[in-house]
Amino acid sequence: MSVVVRVAEITEETPSIRTLRLVRLDGNSFTPGVYKAGAHVDVTGPTGIVRQYSLCSPPGDPSSLLIAVKREPESRGGSVALHQLTVGDHLKLSKPRNLLQLAEDGDRHVLVAGGIGITPLLSMAYELYSWGAEFELHYFARSRDEAAFVDLLENRVEFPDRVHWHFGVAPADLPAVLQGLGAALTSDGHVYTCGPAPFMAQVTTALAPVVGEEHVHVEHFVPVEVDTRGDEPFTVELDTGESFEVPADRSILSVLEENGIEVFKSCEEGICGSCVSGVLQGTPDHRDNCLSAADKAAGKEMALCVSRALTDRLVIELY
Ligand code: FES
Repeated sequence: MSVVVRVAEITEETPSIRTLRLVRLDGNSFTPGVYKAGAHVDVTGPTGIVRQYSLCSPPGDPSSLLIAVKREPESRGGSVALHQLTVGDHLKLSKPRNLLQLAEDGDRHVLVAGGIGITPLLSMAYELYSWGAEFELHYFARSRDEAAFVDLLENRVEFPDRVHWHFGVAPADLPAVLQGLGAALTSDGHVYTCGPAPFMAQVTTALAPVVGEEHVHVEHFVPVEVDTRGDEPFTVELDTGESFEVPADRSILSVLEENGIEVFKSCEEGICGSCVSGVLQGTPDHRDNCLSAADKAAGKEMALCVSRALTDRLVIELY
């Protein structure tokens, strides 16, 4: 399911990051509760290229949706095309998906953003404020000029005493700074992080010993590199009873498609979550970057585009 929206406002946050405020074509609000904090959408731009962007407006305000787009130097036309849009242009959005979710039971929430990774954490900060929850947002960027949402974070009532800026932290100092963020946390706390993969790995290293690995929630927007050497074939069975052999060098997704079975998909690289489906029997071999550590450990869902099986047979349920 997708919807066409209109660009209602563009803000140049930094020389390489702009925000797009998106509204419905009919002028009405989106359905209240259209997405949960931390959700993202597939955005189809004018070139037809699909990219994933987090929604960063307050989840409780359905009047518009906000996305922030960083112009990537190696862009194949996705982010560059969105940087050429003007007010009034149209985009296609998928239904929002939530791979990064707030834990409702946490006694304290620490949000740790690296660069453009601020985007999902911004909607989470709005939501935590609406809950009256204890939270703090730590924003790491090379400099103030390269940070998005500076005015908003300094001036919105939800944020000023909860936002902590970390500009130009030297790589050698980063581990100690991150460990310092754990001072107010207990094992009942939760950490959420989004940013470059090495940054998130350092956040996990610093704070998982305090809150536990399953309380560190990570949002990846980079493809996984899958080593397929040594892979074995296995059988995948649908809840309808149809079953297929998945060869060592093929994905479940490609085998299903070849057999005329439609599966939601977008990135085909284990990052967007479009193809995540239920696992009813068997043990998945998770190779994606979209499910959380807790979801992977539970083994109830898997990404069909990259993940495989640790058992001879998997029974899955397409969403
Ligand atoms: S299609 Fe994006 S995670 Fe599978």
